[in-house]
Amino acid sequence: MDSRIGEATIDEPEGLRRVSVAVDWNALREDARTAWAFAYAPYSRFAVGAAGLVDDGRVVAGCNVENASYGLTLCAECGLVSALAASGGGRLLAVVCVGGPDAEPVMPCGRCRQLLYEFGGPELLVDGDGTARRLADLLPSAFGPESLTLSRPD
Ligand code: THU
Repeated sequence: MDSRIGEATIDEPEGLRRVSVAVDWNALREDARTAWAFAYAPYSRFAVGAAGLVDDGRVVAGCNVENASYGLTLCAECGLVSALAASGGGRLLAVVCVGGPDAEPVMPCGRCRQLLYEFGGPELLVDGDGTARRLADLLPSAFGPESLTLSRPD
């Protein structure tokens, strides 16, 4: 996928905010591959790297970190959102995940779509398989921060 400049809608508590965003998909994929190289995946031997473009222009990344207690495995996207929070927060605009022996694009798992939704909302662009797709299409009818306010008393 070539670099392209597009528009993104940021879903914030105060309302929707429209921003112009230059997504250099090739550079973001390289950042995901850099993180992939640091994956700790001795059990599955399936390394994953993820990189995300933040609305202030910085890039955050993560890799999967497995554990002898298999169920405690941290997906690459867990590391990504942790890096996002630890480096000052912000909204994710675009995310690339790569995995496997050749660090090819992979789609985020279901749980990680939810993790990404928290920080990118429905308009987050995800390039998991060589095509940019809106998170709303990958996680339709999502439960998100706004869902909690529906049941909150005034
Ligand atoms: N994995 C991720 O890091 N992200 C995903 O979205 C899917 C799966 C990791 C978890 C585990 O370490 C390995 O890939 C095989 O499932």
